[in-house]
Amino acid sequence: MANTGRAICGIIGDPVEHSLSPLIHNAGYEAMNLDFIYVPFKVFGIERAMEGVRGLGIRGVSVTMPYKVSVMEYIDDIDGIAEKIGAVNTVINENGVLKGFNTDYDAALKALDEATAIKGKRAILVGSGGAALAIALGLKKSGVELVILNRTKEKAKELAEGVKAEGFGGLEQLSLVSSADILINATSVGMWPEANETIVPKKLLHEGLTVFDIVYNPKETKLLSEALDKGCSVVYGYKMLLHQAATQFELFTECQPPLKVMERVLLKALGGGEKGGEEE
Ligand code: ATR
Repeated sequence: MANTGRAICGIIGDPVEHSLSPLIHNAGYEAMNLDFIYVPFKVFGIERAMEGVRGLGIRGVSVTMPYKVSVMEYIDDIDGIAEKIGAVNTVINENGVLKGFNTDYDAALKALDEATAIKGKRAILVGSGGAALAIALGLKKSGVELVILNRTKEKAKELAEGVKAEGFGGLEQLSLVSSADILINATSVGMWPEANETIVPKKLLHEGLTVFDIVYNPKETKLLSEALDKGCSVVYGYKMLLHQAATQFELFTECQPPLKVMERVLLKALGGGEKGGEEE
């Protein structure tokens, strides 16, 4: 609780101007009648920002680019999963003690879970960056048979070894999608303004395949639109953004998040045209 009585939360990063997080969180607080407010904070030095969180009694912050890794040096404690991922996207302030979490990890699983049962399925994960790592850990924990493909094959190898995936390869191995149950794009390919691009050729998509694209801007990427054409189930990228925010909401407020309200404002914001918002 902040010293004024109202609890203050926010997003720290640079840039943060276009972040959709304030909208989603504040809509949740309002719906639940909580005396909380969530504001964007542009960071001028991550160490000083963390001192500010302590010194001002800020309840919690979402952490976005480029501080998800560097923030770890300036907190007191870290959740086991966030430590394994090596990135923190949420910091909670418990009476001056700062603890870091990563809510991307279970957000991806929750988003996928809404579309398909995942245990025992064969999944192809394209990409090997920070988002791919969080998703890969989640998939392996859920008993998925996982192959990781990436433009830079070496990075796919490293990630596959790190999470004990069944295989890895370069993008020339994308033909494996033909026999997979789940395809996940964890690269930025297809993101506005390059919305005409897709990382997986349409001919490889097939009925029975669930396609999850972490790109949420535009809401329906070329990959998802082609997947729908081919009769695949799709999982929109905004679902991951929604679920990671919902888990943060729960950490900040210790209340169940009003998911439907949060989803409605997020969809409205995304539907209002293409925006240049950063990935959360
Ligand atoms: P994040 O933390 O959001 O995952 P990142 O660490 O920059 O971001 O990772 C971006 C991912 O998108 C990487 O897997 C990257 O491939 P490389 O490892 O070869 O760089 C992938 N990516 C970005 N642009 C791409 C493109 N035009 N074609 C193929 N892959 C691309």
